[in-house]
Amino acid sequence: MAERQYTIAVIPGDGIGVEVTPEALRVLDRLAEQSAGRIAFAFESFPWGCQYYLQTGRMMDHDGLERLQGKDAIFFGAVGWPGVPDHISLWGLRLAICQGFDQYACVRPVRLLPGVPSPLRDATPERIDWVVVRENSEGEYAGIGGRNLAARGPDREVAIQSALFTAQGCERIIRYAFDLARTRKRKKVTSVTKSNAQQYGMVLWDESFDRVRADYPDVETEQWLVDAMAARFVLRPETLEVVVGSNLFGDILSDLGSAIGGSLGIAASANIDPERRHPSMFEPVHGSAPDIAGQGIANPIAAIWSAAMMLEHLGMAPEAERIMTALAATTASGVLTPDLGGAATTREVGDAVLANL
Ligand code: NAI
Ligand code: MG
Repeated sequence: MAERQYTIAVIPGDGIGVEVTPEALRVLDRLAEQSAGRIAFAFESFPWGCQYYLQTGRMMDHDGLERLQGKDAIFFGAVGWPGVPDHISLWGLRLAICQGFDQYACVRPVRLLPGVPSPLRDATPERIDWVVVRENSEGEYAGIGGRNLAARGPDREVAIQSALFTAQGCERIIRYAFDLARTRKRKKVTSVTKSNAQQYGMVLWDESFDRVRADYPDVETEQWLVDAMAARFVLRPETLEVVVGSNLFGDILSDLGSAIGGSLGIAASANIDPERRHPSMFEPVHGSAPDIAGQGIANPIAAIWSAAMMLEHLGMAPEAERIMTALAATTASGVLTPDLGGAATTREVGDAVLANL
């Protein structure tokens, strides 16, 4: 029996989720092997996703959350497949888990690995290194609203989609960002809103930010509007450290960040319940990529990096760091999938990472 045994729920999902997940698990298995019995992982796989939906009418089992609850963490691939509407696959599985487990902190590092071409001129690993902290439980994705008046005719229907901002929800994600900033090279938090145009929810966010920042006098703060921040990501990335924003803004900015970091194929994320009432979930930012699924050329780095974030969350920071070093050595040596301009397969990148461990 290992000193530390972790039970991980694995949901590979659809498309390239099924191709990149095994590479992340291989890396975890190798770390366990190398730990001389100190660490062990037990993976329990769940077949949920669009295929499951087409067979059963459900994206996951009705008692899905209960079955995940006892696990130490959840490792997720990607969901979504043509033939199942995206709002069904997303709400039926990924959002059902994030919201059901109140994983309110979504953490998405933006970092350029060596040897990876960035679309930005003058990009270097030193200049491109920050974290987007996205509010993950409310805001624009609270799912509040409805459609009505369809009886008046298809061109007369109305839809209302409301954003939900609670003082408690704002405060807890902002506090998470400040705590994270204290662990970073520069102690700095930039809050992103659009409170000039969104005068209710986002002004509440700003007021929460003011309250929380008083508790962190050692952390530098900034407040930016999201449109200006989109430009700053591109023009002055070296000035960013921890960027915290609402669900929608964090979603969009983190995709921009992943493009700056070279590819969606390397962008990793964590959906964290900081209070640890429930398991947290770790997943690549990318989706199921039907355009390249089945070809064996999906970049597994995002998934492997997400596994590193999982280890950090579980208290294995040195092991997480070893994965990051192995990833950097892999990209530096030019073993790259086509999304990064290389010709390596998913498996070959996985092999290279294992060799670099
Ligand atoms: P996507 O992330 O699946 O793909 C966008 C583009 O990036 C595609 O050209 C794809 O080939 C490329 N790409 C993504 N990951 C890659 C990787 N690891 N290696 C190489 N290239 C990669 O986003 P898209 O096409 O908008 O959505 C496809 C499906 O995925 C939809 O059903 C969508 O709802 C779902 N989706 C699921 C997410 C999740 O499970 N967390 C997140 C985003 C989308
Ligand atoms: Mg997104």
